[in-house]
Amino acid sequence: MASDNNVSQKEDDIGRVAMKWRVWLAVIVIIVAAAGVGLMLAPIGEDRPDITVSGNVEQGEHLLQVAGCYACHTRTEDDSASAFAGGHELETAFGSFYAPNITSSDSHGIGDWNLRDFEKALRQGVSPDGHAYYPAFPFLSYRSLTDEDVAHLYAALMASEPVDEEATPHQLRFPFNIRLGLKPWRWLFATTRSLNIDQSTEVGRGRYLVDAVAHCGECHNPRNSLGAFIPPYMGGNDQLPGGNWAPPIHGRALSQMDWNELDLMYFLADGMLPDGDFVGGSMVEVIDYGTVYLSESDRRAMAEYLFSLQ
Ligand code: HEC
Ligand code: HEC
Repeated sequence: MASDNNVSQKEDDIGRVAMKWRVWLAVIVIIVAAAGVGLMLAPIGEDRPDITVSGNVEQGEHLLQVAGCYACHTRTEDDSASAFAGGHELETAFGSFYAPNITSSDSHGIGDWNLRDFEKALRQGVSPDGHAYYPAFPFLSYRSLTDEDVAHLYAALMASEPVDEEATPHQLRFPFNIRLGLKPWRWLFATTRSLNIDQSTEVGRGRYLVDAVAHCGECHNPRNSLGAFIPPYMGGNDQLPGGNWAPPIHGRALSQMDWNELDLMYFLADGMLPDGDFVGGSMVEVIDYGTVYLSESDRRAMAEYLFSLQ
């Protein structure tokens, strides 16, 4: 009788402990889920002071080329396509992105945006209504653009021909089509703080062009399986869409390939490799629609900066 009582007492205890654990587990699950939902709903971006400088259309038009805005936001494969009215397919591991219409159209573009809206989109990856942009839009590079350059870009786009055309919507696979998932991603992997690059030296100017404007690292930096940048800086990426490979382009790698600064300068002007062959893959567009428009001194600065990475 006494031992029977002991057994049922023990079973009761075990039951109580198991119950307690279940309660704790439920509490933990609820906390984690609430934190996840909290992150998805939390506002992103920083409250920065308004940009007070005014932009110059001509300088903005130059930047729209060399920063790749034209290349991504225009269907460059179609000669009759309107500039900035929406881009061609950007294939990625997560699905296909199509850069939207960023002409001055009020109905289909960004004609009704103010400079503040534009700054938030370009440097912080946040839309006027507070949602997060996909990092296929290289705001993680543009975050370091200066106030002046943001103002120039804005001036040029506002002066652009308005085009009332619907751009193609993204076609992304589940779960990547859920925009809310971007906020936890950013919290884990990304910062939109500016690198505040000092452009007073030639190497500094080169770094600004490589990192902030021409965003070379978007393809030449390695990434993890969730698309976040990982070291080594400019160490190459063999996971580009379509099995493409962007080689390492820091000075050490370039020297090993027997390139010198002049080779790199010429390469950025016409895509010709030191052996007389021409480059292929997505690098062709980077050059044809972007770096060919750089001044010689800017190309020299970029070469000098990349070669300084030994
Ligand atoms: C590598 C391709 C690429 C480049 C280069 C690029 N963009 Fe985009 N851009 C995108 C994609 C893709 C989106 C859509 C992101 C999304 O839906 O979350 C986008 C979105 C935008 C938006 C938001 C538009 C809207 O309606 O919400 C603006 C503004 C913009 N880009 C401006 C620019 C400017 C200015 C430049 C050059 C400094 C530029 N982009 C360069 C791909 C690109
Ligand atoms: C859209 C992705 C992308 C961007 C942005 C990009 N590259 Fe590349 N780059 C590539 C790919 C892909 C290759 C390999 C091309 C090939 O297969 O021939 C390459 C090759 C190169 C090479 C080596 C050529 C060779 O075959 O040895 C250099 C140097 C280079 N890129 C420099 C740059 C610089 C500098 C920038 C910034 C202005 C830049 N890239 C931006 C994708 C990119």
